[in-house]
Amino acid sequence: GTITFVSHDGESHEADIVEGQSLMQIATSNGVAGIDGDCGGECACGTCHVIVESNWMSLTGKTGEDEEQMLEMTPEREATSRLSCQIEVTEAMDGMTVKLPEYQM
Ligand code: FES
Repeated sequence: GTITFVSHDGESHEADIVEGQSLMQIATSNGVAGIDGDCGGECACGTCHVIVESNWMSLTGKTGEDEEQMLEMTPEREATSRLSCQIEVTEAMDGMTVKLPEYQM
């Protein structure tokens, strides 16, 4: 399956689902611009912010406490904002779309 990343200017980029990897890992290994993952998935940089389409939100699990703190500092936070390093991808996410913010921290 695939997950689609849509940049702020509307360009979409598909990435293959690799079960057990984080959404940030599949984005960076597919060269998705706008997902940097500077801290390597430690929930400490905020450079992996994505906005999940609301109908997919329930599949992505709960926002953790550390993640919540990082998101509070994220200027473009929306109701369905997540840090993609904190989302483990599964085949159930086939067809999911996430948006990228205009500016990544
Ligand atoms: Fe740093 Fe997600 S990669 S917070």
